[in-house]
Amino acid sequence: MTARTVTNARPAPGTSLADNLRFLRALIARPKNIGAVLPSGPALARAIARQIGDPHQGPVLELGPGTGSITQAILEHGVPAERLTAVEFDPDMAAELAGRYPAVEVIRGDAFDLVHALGPGSRAPFAAIVSGLPLLNFPPASRRAYMEGLARHLAPGAPIIQFSYGTNAPVAAPEGFAVHRAALVWANVPPARVWVYRRV
Ligand SMILES: C[S@@+](CC[C@H](N)C(=O)[O-])C[C@H]1O[C@@H](n2cnc3c(N)ncnc32)[C@H](O)[C@@H]1O
Repeated sequence: MTARTVTNARPAPGTSLADNLRFLRALIARPKNIGAVLPSGPALARAIARQIGDPHQGPVLELGPGTGSITQAILEHGVPAERLTAVEFDPDMAAELAGRYPAVEVIRGDAFDLVHALGPGSRAPFAAIVSGLPLLNFPPASRRAYMEGLARHLAPGAPIIQFSYGTNAPVAAPEGFAVHRAALVWANVPPARVWVYRRV
């Protein structure tokens, strides 16, 4: 009998060929909003999800989930799907995500206008907010306004988790908050940093 090596070559959820093509289509249609050539890989997605801490603290908000690679890591971290809300601007990605994760509250909306996107049924305050928006593509004043908007939807002591491809935090901490680099993930294309903002 000959030995056979069986490899599990299945891509991580959110990073399949179909997902990469969906991502590419969105990149061509709205380059400023996508800001990356590929969805986040599983190492980065896990490094982000880890920053949530206790997954049972309360509802979690994900902004800009795209094809769902970080969504998957958040669920694998132990956040119950029923307590996760995701706001995605791209209608195709939002519809795909809603079909893939029926228990997750997927909202097709604008994370820069969070009050309107979340609506009257908002689950805020959130025990963690994970942001995948390519903030470096937006002017500094919009980034600051975005962070201040997130801060208003956060439970006391909860983190805002933002990844970025730059060397510095993509936006300064809002008043009363501090920011620190929680991880540097070389095993991502491109390498990325994970920034955590928290009230001090
Ligand atoms: C860099 S991609 C990240 C996607 C995914 N989180 C990942 O890491 O693979 C940015 C995502 O943010 C979404 N996005 C950009 N601007 C947005 C906005 N104003 N509101 C909601 N989503 C937005 C894009 O459609 C895209 O899915």
